[in-house]
Amino acid sequence: YRNLRVALLGAGSVGAQVARLLLEHADELAARSGAGLELVGIAVRDLDAERDVELPKELFTTDAEALILGADIVIELMGGLEPARSYILKALESGADVITANKALLATHGPELFELAEQVGAQLYYEAAVGGAIPIIRPLRDSLAGDRVDRILGIVNGTTNYILDSMHSTGASFEQALAVATELGYAEADPTADIEGYDAAQKAAILASLAFHTRVAVGDVHREGITSITAEQIAAATKAGYVIKLLAICERITDAAGDEGVSVRVHPALVPEDHPLAAVHGANNAVFLHSLAAGDLMFYGAGAGGVQTASAVLGDVVSAARRHVVGGPGVAESAHADLAVLPIEQVHTRY
Ligand code: NDP
Ligand code: HSE
Repeated sequence: YRNLRVALLGAGSVGAQVARLLLEHADELAARSGAGLELVGIAVRDLDAERDVELPKELFTTDAEALILGADIVIELMGGLEPARSYILKALESGADVITANKALLATHGPELFELAEQVGAQLYYEAAVGGAIPIIRPLRDSLAGDRVDRILGIVNGTTNYILDSMHSTGASFEQALAVATELGYAEADPTADIEGYDAAQKAAILASLAFHTRVAVGDVHREGITSITAEQIAAATKAGYVIKLLAICERITDAAGDEGVSVRVHPALVPEDHPLAAVHGANNAVFLHSLAAGDLMFYGAGAGGVQTASAVLGDVVSAARRHVVGGPGVAESAHADLAVLPIEQVHTRY
C-alpha cells in the first residue's frame, strides 16, 4: 500500500474515538481505502488533559500548524470558528483533503472553504456535520443529485428532541427535562446553542445549501428555540393527537410574484402522532425529505455521540483516501473482505 499521512486536530468526544478506530482498525481501513492510513499526530490544547480513550502519548502535540504541513488528510474535530477556519484553509492550501464535523464553521464560512478547496483541487468532506452518524450529506449530494428535493423536515438536534420527548412522556416541565438532559450528558453545561435552536439552524443552513444547490448561511435561517414550551402546551398537543418537535424546515417556495426561492426555518412544530417523525424518541435525529421522483425518504439514527459521530468521520477518511489512490478501490464493491457465507443452521435471528 501507499501510505497516507493523517493529521487529527482535536481529541475530545469525537476526535478521541476517531483516533482509536483509526489505530484499532488500521488493516481493515487500509484494505477498504487501498492506502495505509498513518495517524501522524493529534493536535490538542492541553497535553496533560484526561482523555476518554487511552491513546499513544507520542502522537500528541500542541503545534497544529506543524502537524498540518505534510499531511495528506487533515481531520478537524476541534470545533469553533477560529482557529479551525485558519487551520482548514492552511490544510487545503497545502493540498490536503480535509474532513470536518464543524457545522458552526460550515454554516458561517462554508463558501470560503469550498471555494478554496475547488481552486486547489482538494476535497472538503463533512458527513458528520449534520445528524452525527446518519448518512445524509452523501445522499443529498450524490444519490439525489439527479432528483429535485423540494422539502426537508429534520429533527437535527438530539438535546432538544430528548427534552421535548421527555416532557411528552413524563409530563415534566422544560426546566425539569433540561436538568435530566444535563445530568445524562446530552445537554452541554451551557445548553444555549441547542435549546435556542442555533445548532439546528446551522444544520438547516447546511442541508438547504446542499439540497437546493444554493447558498444559505446560518444568518438566513429563521430561528426559534424551545425554551418557552410549557407542560400545558405539551399536554394540549398530546390531547389533539400531535407531538411537539423542534423542526428544521427547508422548502422550495414561490413568492407572490411567481419567483422561486427557499425558506429555511427552525422552530417548534406540531407533528401529527402518526407521522414518522413523531416516533423519533430520545436524543435521536431524523431527516424526512420529499423529492420529485423519489417521493418521501427518511434517514434516522444517532445524531450525536463520540463513537457514533466517528463512524461518519471515518467514512469520509476512507473516501478521501480512495481519492488519493490511483487504481485503488474507487467504490466499496471492489474492496472484498475474505468472509465465508455461513450455512443457515449457523444463523440465529433475533431482531
Ligand atoms: P470537544 O470539545 O469534546 O473536543 C474538542 C477537542 O479539540 C479537544 O481535544 C481540544 O483540546 C481540541 N481543541 C480545541 N481548540 C483547540 C486549539 N485551538 N488547538 C488545538 N486543539 C484544540 O468537541 P467534540 O469532540 O464534541 O466536537 C468536535 C466537533 O464535532 C465540533 O465541531 C462539534 O460541533 C462536532 N460534532 C460533535 C458531536 C458530538 O456528539 N460531540 C456530534 C456531531 C458533530 P483539549 O482536549 O486539549 O482541550
Ligand atoms: N449538541 C448537538 C445535539 C450535538 O444535541 O444534537 C450534535 O451535533
